[in-house]
Amino acid sequence: MNNKKQEFSEFKDIHTLKIQSNLEETFELYGNDSCGLIEPMKYSSLNGSKFIRSLLVYATGSILNIDPKLLEQPAIAIELIHTYTLIHDDLPCMDDDDIRRGSPSCHIKFNESSAILAGDALQSLAFEILSNKKYDEISHKTHLDWVNYLSSSIGLNGVAGGQYLDLSINNKSVDLYQLKKIYYLKTSNLIAPCIMLPYMLDDNYPTKFDSLLLFGLTLGLSFQIKDDLLGYTGSSNILGKTKNKDELRNQPNYVNLLGVDETSQLLEENKELMNKILEDMGFKNTMLHKVSNYIFDRKF
Ligand code: IPE
Ligand code: IPE
Ligand code: MG
Ligand code: MG
Repeated sequence: MNNKKQEFSEFKDIHTLKIQSNLEETFELYGNDSCGLIEPMKYSSLNGSKFIRSLLVYATGSILNIDPKLLEQPAIAIELIHTYTLIHDDLPCMDDDDIRRGSPSCHIKFNESSAILAGDALQSLAFEILSNKKYDEISHKTHLDWVNYLSSSIGLNGVAGGQYLDLSINNKSVDLYQLKKIYYLKTSNLIAPCIMLPYMLDDNYPTKFDSLLLFGLTLGLSFQIKDDLLGYTGSSNILGKTKNKDELRNQPNYVNLLGVDETSQLLEENKELMNKILEDMGFKNTMLHKVSNYIFDRKF
């Protein structure tokens, strides 16, 4: 293993443990004396995510020299929202998936109403944490900007809207243009905040807003296309979720529109584009560059 890889794997290990323990502490703190709803929330949140979104949060913070403690709240909030979207995504009325992160999906382990409510409560907990004035260094304005940006990213014109469209194309033929729009909505909208929330703490905010947003959105699109590809080339065991799920549901995706080779080629081109955007912003060979490459090179 070369030094570059070692450096990334160390970063990944440290931050994966950190977010796992921050989530555990969060459930201790907010779940103390609560009703049984905390159980499906914990089950789904603490059960084997790759925590890619937190890695992006901390990597963005590292290139902007932001004190990692100030990134705790955005990282936790984004992971809670991500888990909420997956719990709802797996429901029988949505993708009807029994396996998530290598274990029974939330509605299988518990039941459907618990899964719906656990998702609801995770979303609301995320905003409770994000808006909490915990550190003097974070201004009221930043908290408000965070909440405003993240709430608009996941709602009607964001993840929820994207999920609605995603379900409406089931069994229908769509073109790449429509598919790309859905991927931007349902996936990019939770990847871009991993870059933009840390950036809102930067003294130079918002001078690089447009270029960082383009980076985050394109990375999100690539993340979802890579997921399509892994659905064909990976195995259910390694993926921790059902392989070829889109084929089973007649769900259009990049691979069934373009084929494995052309999708792989497109991802290579996007990887170069991502590297170029980072290079132009002066972030070449940074940890953000490495996390971005991990998203393209990952096996699950
Ligand atoms: C899965 O995201 C959902 C998609 C947007 C494709 P991840 O692959 O990041 O899921 P976990 O958190 O590691 O399980
Ligand atoms: C997961 O999307 C949820 C969101 C992107 C909001 P998918 O349905 O495409 O991903 P998997 O295959 O279930 O992880
Ligand atoms: Mg889905
Ligand atoms: Mg799904």
